[in-house]
This record gives sequence, structure tokens and C-alpha cells, in this order.
Amino acid sequence: MKHRMRSNCIIDRSITEPIVNWVNANDEMLSRYQNESHDGVVYWKAKLEQKIPLFEELGFPYDNLFQLEKEIKKLYDLPDANYETIMGIMLIFAPGVKMSENFNGYKCTPHKDPNTNSDNDVHTRFNIMISAPLDGGNPIIENTIIEVNENEPWICVAGLHLHSTMKMQGPKSRIVVSFGYWYSKEFLESRGWVDMYKNLEI
Ligand SMILES: [Fe+2]
Repeated sequence: MKHRMRSNCIIDRSITEPIVNWVNANDEMLSRYQNESHDGVVYWKAKLEQKIPLFEELGFPYDNLFQLEKEIKKLYDLPDANYETIMGIMLIFAPGVKMSENFNGYKCTPHKDPNTNSDNDVHTRFNIMISAPLDGGNPIIENTIIEVNENEPWICVAGLHLHSTMKMQGPKSRIVVSFGYWYSKEFLESRGWVDMYKNLEI
């Protein structure tokens, strides 16, 4: 089953390019944040909303990160909400697959992310792939492949929907920025985001 999610928006590259360039230039430092709970190689830094001294020293473009957040909130007309407290704003970086190294391309394995103890808080993420691999890497949500373009945001109601990705391929890195907030189920329902993967055209 394939579905093309229409967020109808490509975020301007002038906002995201400095982040992509910084990530690719700091791959060695980022490799200390390897996440081994998925398939293949992926580096993963959570809670970027709290400035990290090392990242600041290395000139991480925080202004661009928060400008990107603003653009995505505007796109989805998001009311202010608290950051989801476990991962907050995440940077997910999977280096390109080097054929010579027999290096396994990253694939996120199916999971849901935790909600809070409150019945009402749902872990909700707004994601954007600011560097897309040459092949693969698209999100899969509730068995639906979301064929996003580079710089086209998508929604993942990570606390309710099973999600994963297609295995990435090729030498270009996959870089995703993921903004996580707590929204109530009622709010998500009012936007049609709880049932959005039901009744899709195949
Ligand atoms: Fe997740």
C-alpha cells in the first residue's frame, strides 16, 4: 500500500542547508551518539531544544533549527504545546551507505513511542527529511509508505501509530529533524490526524 502524503510544502532550502552542511561536516563527532536499537548505522541526538555546549562550540545552526520549527508550526497551524519530554527535538543522521565497506543501510524498525502517564498526552512528531538518501529511507506509518520529498514535512502520531522506515540505500546521507510535542488525543482527532491512515486510496 502506498500513499503520497500531501503536505503541499517544501521548506526553503536556505533554512535547512546550514543544518545539512553542519551534520555532514561533524559526522565523526556525531558518531558517538550511535543508536543501536534499529537496523544499520544511525546517529541520534535528542532534546536539541536545550542548547548543547559542544554543539554551540562547533557552531551548530540553532537559529536555523528554530526557524525550521517555526515554519513547520505555521504549516500545520500548530498551537503552542510542551515539548515531548523524552526526545523533544531530535536529529537523526544515517550516513550514506559505502558499498566498499559492506555497510548496512539504516532502517528504523517498527515501534510506537511512549506517551506520558497522563491519559491525554499523545507523543506527536512533525518530521522533515532535510537530506534524502538516493533510494529508500521513506517513513512507513501503519503499513503505509509515505513517499515524502526532501524537505517535505510529515506528521507521525508516534504514540498511537506503528512506524518504521524503508531501508536506505546509496552514498548520500539521510538526515531527519523531528519535532516532538504533547498534544491531546481530542486535539489530534479534531485535525483528523488519528485516523488519517485509515481509508486511504491504494
Ligand atoms: Fe519513533
